[in-house]
Amino acid sequence: MPKKAAKSPVGAKESLDSGLERQVSHVPASQTYQGLPTYRLTDLIRHLCPSGQLFWRSRSLHNQLCAEYTSHLMSSIGDKYLLGSGRSDHDRLRVISAIHDGRTRELLRKAGFVSGHRFVEFGCGLGYVTRWAASEGAHATGIDLNEDHLEVAAELAREAGLKTAQFRSANIYEPELEPESVDVSYSRWLMVHLNKPVNAMRAIHAALKPGGVMVCEEADVSAVYAEPASAAYAELRDICMEGARQRGVDYSGGRRVHLWAKEAGFEIVHVDAYHPHYVTGEHKGFWNWTLRAVALGMVKEGSLTAARLEELVAGMNEADASPDTLVAHCRMHQLIAKKPDTKI
Ligand SMILES: C[S@@+](CC[C@H](N)C(=O)[O-])C[C@H]1O[C@@H](n2cnc3c(N)ncnc32)[C@H](O)[C@@H]1O
Repeated sequence: MPKKAAKSPVGAKESLDSGLERQVSHVPASQTYQGLPTYRLTDLIRHLCPSGQLFWRSRSLHNQLCAEYTSHLMSSIGDKYLLGSGRSDHDRLRVISAIHDGRTRELLRKAGFVSGHRFVEFGCGLGYVTRWAASEGAHATGIDLNEDHLEVAAELAREAGLKTAQFRSANIYEPELEPESVDVSYSRWLMVHLNKPVNAMRAIHAALKPGGVMVCEEADVSAVYAEPASAAYAELRDICMEGARQRGVDYSGGRRVHLWAKEAGFEIVHVDAYHPHYVTGEHKGFWNWTLRAVALGMVKEGSLTAARLEELVAGMNEADASPDTLVAHCRMHQLIAKKPDTKI
């Protein structure tokens, strides 16, 4: 007798959603993201197909479940930004500005940025670069998802009397910008937090005028190290990299921005990288602070214990305190990419 056919994909979708709801009620809050359980895909498949038969009988249904589960995960918890938004994160963003803005300005000038340009910064945080662009005579807009950051950014612009700096809340994937209206776009430390950096770049591409340029500065966190080696720095760096990988983002993505840009339809104009190192000074402990901020998010969701984090921070503090220990920050990759001119 022929075996019963597998359920239709539509039925599978219904069971997927109701299965998720049923599971959530049994999962402690600390193991959920926004009401969704953090169990792995294989557990979900097992839940929906307890005998395993459906799984083996219908490879295409299995693939569809995988795709649907992944996209469900991405749309609801994907792009989950692990760094905070409170005062401590504002302080961190101020330090990022102090360490990096000089090089950012040079890069933007190299990209052809001039007074009068329509400039948009994506993931602007507290808006340091947007305000600088406005102070140089650009019509500058800073876009971010985080309202808390935007409020501070706008307040600082008002205090500085910068009337051509605007800030508004939007997701980079749907920035609500007029198509082909932007001369220069900029983003720093944003693409590595995104599940779909190529889609983000496509959204930038759509907003740029033909011949307009996208400027990006993105991190490779795998380049953080100490010499003499600090086991604590190495372990927390790797924990954070792996945590990022598990949520579908790439903390070493800086080295791949040129590939993402090409895939999104850009021509590569310029690539470079720089790598801050310190033995002393106020910025030496910046990556101790940043790794801890990322790891605190992991403690909250239960993937790292507070006690282990405390031990690792103590180890990193030791390295920071020693004037003989060299601490290297992430390597920053720079990209200038051009939207091709319209063909005549
Ligand atoms: C590490 S911070 C960098 C901020 C700023 N670019 C800088 O260098 O100081 C990343 C910023 O991207 C924002 N962000 C994250 N995901 C975003 C998204 N999908 N759309 C817009 N902004 C986003 C965060 O709210 C945060 O302000």
